Amino acid sequence: MRLNGKKILIGITGSIAAYKIPFLIRLLVKEGAQVKVVMTPSATDFVTPLTISTLTQSPVLTIPFNSTDGNWYSHVDWGNWADIYLIAPASANTLAKMANGLTDNLLTAIYLAAKCPVLFAPAMDVDMFMHPATQANIARLLSFGNIQIAPQIGELASGLMGVGRMEEPEAILQILINNLRESTSLLGKNILITAGPTYEAIDPVRYISNHSSGKMGFALASEACDRGANVTLIAGPTALIADNQGIKRVDVITSRQMAEACNLYFDKSDITIMAAAVADYRPIILADQKIKKSEKTLTIQLEQTLDILKNLGERKTDNQFLVGFALETEDEEQNALKKLKEKNLDLIVLNSPSIDGTGFGHDTNKVTIFIKNGEKLEFALKSKREAARDILDTIFSCVHK
Ligand code: CTP
Repeated sequence: MRLNGKKILIGITGSIAAYKIPFLIRLLVKEGAQVKVVMTPSATDFVTPLTISTLTQSPVLTIPFNSTDGNWYSHVDWGNWADIYLIAPASANTLAKMANGLTDNLLTAIYLAAKCPVLFAPAMDVDMFMHPATQANIARLLSFGNIQIAPQIGELASGLMGVGRMEEPEAILQILINNLRESTSLLGKNILITAGPTYEAIDPVRYISNHSSGKMGFALASEACDRGANVTLIAGPTALIADNQGIKRVDVITSRQMAEACNLYFDKSDITIMAAAVADYRPIILADQKIKKSEKTLTIQLEQTLDILKNLGERKTDNQFLVGFALETEDEEQNALKKLKEKNLDLIVLNSPSIDGTGFGHDTNKVTIFIKNGEKLEFALKSKREAARDILDTIFSCVHK
């Protein structure tokens, strides 16, 4: 039994594909899972709560106050109970509510409260699925770290042919098994991640920095935390909020502070990922008063900062895994491979700002990974959260070789 004791919460919405869910529940129960179900009011038009509760041996929820047994069910408790929350079939309406934080029914309220991985399996007519509004909502959900079980191409209930048919129960079962395995793949590992830029002060009001937003590092931190790791996130100045309460966040401003923080946490870390865009130079002299406008030109002398990653590479032990990032605008592969070697890394992630949708500030990224053993893995343009998943999958497979 591949799901022994796993707690799976299914949210059913109003779509004809709801008829497949009783089959899925049977498969899950056979694999040893505990299944609970919440339904939107319109889902009950497609499959009855009685069918579902017979199969799950558990009451089915549609409204917070259940008039059949007189109990009040808390969306927070249900969200906390689940190891995984599967919303299937996910209608266009529910996807829109999830993407915008609307909670006018129990299913969407649980969605906001849930801390576990959330998967959603869209099921709708092809034109509804392809509409830019639905696509934008799905992109938003992916950026939150939710996982889409992509709909299949086929004959739809409307009689049209196209994409929009919910994935079959057997395939959904396999996806759930894989995800539950993944969600504990970094259990107990100490992971140190840096993110964002650094500010190097010129005077009390000015500084040298770069355009890094910190989004890639934050996405890595959230994903690692969801996979069970103890995550320390050293963040340069950024307005981003770590969306996972398990992340230990250390805020720094300068490259010197980032180096000190890395020093402090590095020895205990099993995996270190330097995603921060650390300034390479800082002013030699920090003016203690604001520099006044006088001459036509102004020269500020800079000195190199410590290369934190190189320094960690020199210290690292055989049990530690060290990952760097390379942002290159020319000779990308050659430069990335040079950094991999010179900084004694186990793996380097190359991203290039020249491709549309990638680089600073964007929500998407296209990465290429180079591993110490010579392997090269190229990935498509994806949300930064999905790119984080690819990076952590690759690290995991290296660590477990
Ligand atoms: N890095 C670092 N400390 C620095 C500069 C960079 O730890 N002072 C790390 C970054 O976090 C990243 C990797 O080194 O993981 C590569 O950064 P990048 O700016 O691409 O390369 P540099 O080594 O600074 O070389 P260059 O700027 O010449 O490309």
